[in-house]
Amino acid sequence: MAGSGRKSTAFRSAEWFASSGKYGFVARSWMKSQGFGPELFDGRPVIGICNTWSELTPCNRHLRELAGHVKRGVLLAGGFPLEFPVMSLGEPLMRPTTMLFRNLVSMDVEETIRANPIDGVVLLAGCDKTTPALLMGAASCDIPTILVSGGPMLNGRFQGRDLGSGTDIFRFDDDFRTGKLSKDDYAAAEAAMSRSAGSCQTMGTASTMATLGEALGIALPMNGSIPAPDSRRQVLAEQSGKRIVDLVQNGHAISSIITRQAFENAVVVNGVIGGSTNAVIHLLALAGRLGVPFDLNDWDTLGRDLPCLLDLKPSGRFLMEEFFHAGGLPALMARIPDRLHLDAPTVDGVPIGDRLAHAQCYNDEVIRPVDNPVASQGGIIVLRGNLAPGGAVIKPSAASPDLMVHRGRALVFETADDFRAGIDDPDLDVDATTILVLKNAGPVGYPGMPEVGNLALPKKLLQQGVTDMVRISDGRMSGTAFGTVVLHVTPETAVGGPLAHLKTGDIVRLDAQSGTLDHEVPDDEMARRRTAWTPPEPAYDRGYGRMFINSVLQADQGVDFDFLIGSSGTPVSKLPF
Ligand code: FES
Repeated sequence: MAGSGRKSTAFRSAEWFASSGKYGFVARSWMKSQGFGPELFDGRPVIGICNTWSELTPCNRHLRELAGHVKRGVLLAGGFPLEFPVMSLGEPLMRPTTMLFRNLVSMDVEETIRANPIDGVVLLAGCDKTTPALLMGAASCDIPTILVSGGPMLNGRFQGRDLGSGTDIFRFDDDFRTGKLSKDDYAAAEAAMSRSAGSCQTMGTASTMATLGEALGIALPMNGSIPAPDSRRQVLAEQSGKRIVDLVQNGHAISSIITRQAFENAVVVNGVIGGSTNAVIHLLALAGRLGVPFDLNDWDTLGRDLPCLLDLKPSGRFLMEEFFHAGGLPALMARIPDRLHLDAPTVDGVPIGDRLAHAQCYNDEVIRPVDNPVASQGGIIVLRGNLAPGGAVIKPSAASPDLMVHRGRALVFETADDFRAGIDDPDLDVDATTILVLKNAGPVGYPGMPEVGNLALPKKLLQQGVTDMVRISDGRMSGTAFGTVVLHVTPETAVGGPLAHLKTGDIVRLDAQSGTLDHEVPDDEMARRRTAWTPPEPAYDRGYGRMFINSVLQADQGVDFDFLIGSSGTPVSKLPF
């Protein structure tokens, strides 16, 4: 029924707005206080616009405006758009880490959808954790869903060259600590890096998750790369508003789009874009909500031999704006059609292969041909061994090739605070072959698994010209970071994993080529240390922090809460009065 939506009691919102008697009176009357006319209550689908706008999340500061474009699309297609806020997660400000709150936001999304007359949802996300949190919440409701990302900010510019969020901060910080960069230049760079609305313009976690939204088929083409201020981002939002109405009318829930095939496509795409290691955790958690069989080993078997084809920081040279102008993800996917499930469904209503049919690459420097990759290994390598029996990960495209196989003496820091206090000590017993190890940065231990894994190098080694070392932790690292960094060691320190028992001076072997991570501590000595070990005191004894510690799963299971695995659908609940 063009223009007015399908009049049907099949939509769950009809339980509210088509209801007779006092319940329908209350639902309609109070909604009419916002100026909504009677046509909007004629049985058309109600589309929730789930918004993570917040001035505390600068990357998402334009999402209220973008919501207006989604609303226009919903209205054009005959739906009734209703915007609602959920808790937002901004990387630059939140402490101890946004990851502590990803699952909380997913609960906010899930319960808000289920408790209200919502038939389908458009998710407005941007900064790193907002995307997985919203997808996880929608997945546990299993309703029709489209992701609209805020898009990357414009390129930073400083002293005649491009600046990339995060990636260049790490370089500036090293230069500032060693006196190569003046205080004035440091301040000028700070003002030049983030000069528009949008998320980090490197291939960090935000850009990775927005791009993987495209690869999963749950976002429209070019969702990942259109810059935030570009008018085409607004058009994409409007088109998404139109599409969600169609998805509701045809009953296409999120689980019908994000299937096992979609996850396999996402792993492949993450490899060729040189995507963030954080995507490993987020997609495992999303698969858990959807009940899709997909685990840590899939990251290795599907992604290990992929070349990195996208020359973006932190793995390469360019930024998201160049990716967009080069043709975006469709052009990149068209480089590797034989590695993809081209028949995987999308929210466009056509197979994902259709997006590739007219895709063109306009810059081979940015989107490299398969025979000229940025790095021959672009995927995530999963490591296992007696130091990480549950697994660990390394991103080869961001690592130094000569350190991918390395044996060295461990220098162990018990906490991130110990590391910060001690790393620049001129008497630190460390050289370029040393392996820096950080404990207590896992899901339970920190808690929340912060992005502290790319440990800064000791100042005295930076002054000697050392640019990379092997670093190991049970934490994560920013998607904008780089280096030979082993992350997500499982089981983590705080639950008594082998990492808990490692000491300074122990020998550790990393062989990323064969996928192993081992210590050389004799078995009887390890057993002795295990017996003497006592778990650390929990960081929280009440509130959400306590619930997190008691319920969080390890990195190999996506750091979700044990009680949130799966979906509860959207049954309409009991009446409130
Ligand atoms: Fe928000 Fe990077 S800090 S996307």
